[in-house]
Order: sequence, then C-alpha cells, then structure tokens
Amino acid sequence: MTPSLEEFITLLNRDLRLEYMAVIQYTQHFGMLNPRAAALGEQLQNLAGDELAHALILAEQIRLLGGRPDVHTPRARTSDDPLTLLGQDRRGEQDAIARYQSRIFQAEALGLDSLAQILRHILAIEERHLELLDSLISS
Ligand SMILES: [Fe+2]
Ligand SMILES: [Fe+2]
Repeated sequence: MTPSLEEFITLLNRDLRLEYMAVIQYTQHFGMLNPRAAALGEQLQNLAGDELAHALILAEQIRLLGGRPDVHTPRARTSDDPLTLLGQDRRGEQDAIARYQSRIFQAEALGLDSLAQILRHILAIEERHLELLDSLISS
C-alpha cells in the first residue's frame, strides 16, 4: 500500500534513527575489537562512516520533503564476544536492506523518483555491508 507523504516522512525518520543507531553500534564494536583485532576493527570503522553518510542524506531529504529530522536513537546492541558483535551487525544490515527495498517502492509510488534513486544507492551500500559481514563471520 502506498503511504501518504506524511507517513512516508515518518518511515524515513525511522530509517534515520536506525542509521544513528548503526553509527553508534559500529563505533562501539570498533572500540571493542581494536587493537586486538585491528583488521576487523578497521572494517567496522569504515562501516560507521558509511552509516553516518546515510544519516546525513536522510536528514537532508526529510527536510526537503517538509519534515523534521528526528534526534532520537534506538538502543545499540553490544556483547563481549566478537562473533556475537558481528552477528548483531549482520542482523542490522539485513533489516536495513528490507527497509530500503520497501522505501524505494514507496518513493516510486509517490512519484519521488530522484529520492528513489538516492535510496537505491544507499541500498547498494547496505548490500555490500552484508556481504562484508558474511565474509568476516565466515573467516
Ligand atoms: Fe546505512
Ligand atoms: Fe549498513
């Protein structure tokens, strides 16, 4: 079902909150793994930067649609076990992929073609994140 513009802005704000959470989670997981597992930590540092870029894009787009970017953040997940940390990050990426897939359909249905294109770009990066986490978990 196609959301109203107001509902769509609410959904984008949910995405924005989860991007904030991803920044915090990857930053904390980086700290947990560095320098003991520096190569792994470096990968998570890069992911934190990507998620911040997504948050900045969403904040701008929400404003352009007439909304107000949210400032609230869901609680990030953590653990003392490196494999559990990566599993938490993997679930976040799976969730992001599913959300952005529906967000692209919704943007297209609302005639927001340039936003749909921006969301496709974010989706491609989330898919790369999932592939990276899969390879880190299996190595
Ligand atoms: Fe993201
Ligand atoms: Fe991601």
